[in-house]
Amino acid sequence: MARRIAQPFAPPRPWGNWGDYCYTRLKLRSDPLYPAVIAALRHHRSPLLDLGCGLGLLAHALRAAGLEQAYRGLDIDTTKIQRGQQILARSGLAGVQLQRHDLSVSRPAHRGSVTLLDVLQYLDQPTQQTLLADAAGMLDDDGVLVIRSTLAEDSARGRTSLRADAWAHRIGWMQTRPQHYPGAGELQRPLEAAGLQVSLQPLYGNTPFNNWLLVARR
Ligand SMILES: C[S@@+](CC[C@H](N)C(=O)[O-])C[C@H]1O[C@@H](n2cnc3c(N)ncnc32)[C@H](O)[C@@H]1O
Repeated sequence: MARRIAQPFAPPRPWGNWGDYCYTRLKLRSDPLYPAVIAALRHHRSPLLDLGCGLGLLAHALRAAGLEQAYRGLDIDTTKIQRGQQILARSGLAGVQLQRHDLSVSRPAHRGSVTLLDVLQYLDQPTQQTLLADAAGMLDDDGVLVIRSTLAEDSARGRTSLRADAWAHRIGWMQTRPQHYPGAGELQRPLEAAGLQVSLQPLYGNTPFNNWLLVARR
């Protein structure tokens, strides 16, 4: 399955750049993120807004798992959006759009489900709180909000996550630096204040990172 999903991430010619293909294969093999998001979104047909979508890999994982809801992915990184659009054209996925958007400036209009996967830490604390309240307001009756985030924690896992993020910025995979790692209460409070039912669980898998999965619905 990972090989099939990753295929359109390969360069059109063998001497092209294999970075996106290798990243995708590794992520799909080692990270419990997409199976967890697919489990949360299965049986929900509302359109999905994926905030901080990167290359839009989630759309490929959803379609491979048989989930067909309309998908719109937004990311600040113009080059990732352009590469993601080329990958989309090669894959022929239906009902998928990728657009550039800076979440620190504004939030788009949307009704449906929302995902925020490994992106919150790139926003400052006030923007995170506004974004969480806005995301809660986007959910329709069928909608689900799925967030994965590192939580602020002085532990071996917490420190490993911080080092990995710093490394991703140094090698140029992430253009921006992390600004603020939220605590559990910072994630839960604005969503509960908006009337959502919230569950928050560790999503460690076999990784050394301090990743948590939050799922919220009306
Ligand atoms: C660690 S990557 C996660 C990508 C994707 N969500 C995934 O799970 O594969 C974080 C993404 O957040 C994006 N990002 C950072 N700051 C952003 C902002 N202000 N607005 C929109 N996207 C942002 C980055 O460009 C990057 O693609």
